[in-house]
Amino acid sequence: MTRLSAITPSGHAQLGNYLGAIRRWAGEGSPGDLYFVSDLHAMTVSYNPAKLRSLSRETLAVLLAAGIAPDRVFVQSDLVRELGALSWVLECACSYGEAARMTQFKQKADGQGVVRLGLLTYPVLMAADILLQGADEVPVGQDQTQHVELARSLARRFNSTYGDVFVVPRAVMAGTAARVMDLSDPTRKMSKSTQDSAGVVFVLDDPDLVRRKISRAATDSDNRLEYRPTFQPGLANLLEILASCTGRSPIEVAEDHTTYGELKEAVAEAVVAELAPLRAQALEYLDDPAGLDSIRAAGAERARERGKHILEAALRMAGVG
Ligand code: TYM
Repeated sequence: MTRLSAITPSGHAQLGNYLGAIRRWAGEGSPGDLYFVSDLHAMTVSYNPAKLRSLSRETLAVLLAAGIAPDRVFVQSDLVRELGALSWVLECACSYGEAARMTQFKQKADGQGVVRLGLLTYPVLMAADILLQGADEVPVGQDQTQHVELARSLARRFNSTYGDVFVVPRAVMAGTAARVMDLSDPTRKMSKSTQDSAGVVFVLDDPDLVRRKISRAATDSDNRLEYRPTFQPGLANLLEILASCTGRSPIEVAEDHTTYGELKEAVAEAVVAELAPLRAQALEYLDDPAGLDSIRAAGAERARERGKHILEAALRMAGVG
């Protein structure tokens, strides 16, 4: 069984990425799994090339620091030729309406002056990422499940139109922390590309900054310490974060605390403890650029080799190549 997933270096990795995705990838890994830095996906909105290169590097270090084995990681753009080719084949199996319906496209396109065509077609590239490697399971947070559904539809459609080539993948989601919310505005998800970073805990933030951000998290004036996500979203978010860090349920952790201040302190200490080893390891990887480069090169070679047959078969069935 192959699991595959990725993170886009559109900013520094944040707590939601870690609790909702990366930590599970490291914990659940089996030898065939692949986790990668999806740098091509960061090009769908305006970005700075030098910054993208350094964020890709940092994100690769975070994946390794989280405990994902070096022989299971790669950087997406190292397979740009293979993925570009498969994306084209899949774009020709995808309708405009299907792509335009994607919630994330609608959200991100809204409010942008110029909408890049890549923003519309990016879920198809994501389908290529998944299908090229023959992934069975795709562990993601809630925000990505619709894209995995698209990959499923495209795989099925291609297989029934041209012949069986692709494994039909399925999304698997985290229990708690599938959707960590922004600390300042708990109605929006925590995101690495949010402009105002006051409500975003980055995994490489130093511990004092983490404590400060959590101590300023928005709660409410109800003064009721219960897990009620609909009525007290800020509080529920803190309880979910604490539950996720301590392996308990949000309802249970709520019972241990009586004031918001005391709860915030407990959340801050749990998050700092959770992130400390990750931060230390990531800084070590970043201190050894040659080591990181060689892990990256070996990963690219392995992933390319693995995807070769599926790409060749798909091109052949499609009547090209
Ligand atoms: P990205 O970089 O937005 O997010 C990486 C992973 O983190 C999860 N996540 C969250 N989980 C909980 N709470 C949050 N606030 C939160 N924010 C993000 C995401 O669900 C995701 O699992 N397009 C993808 C990357 C990608 C990919 C793929 C994934 C590219 N190709 C192939 C799977 C398979 C993305 O931008 O994820």
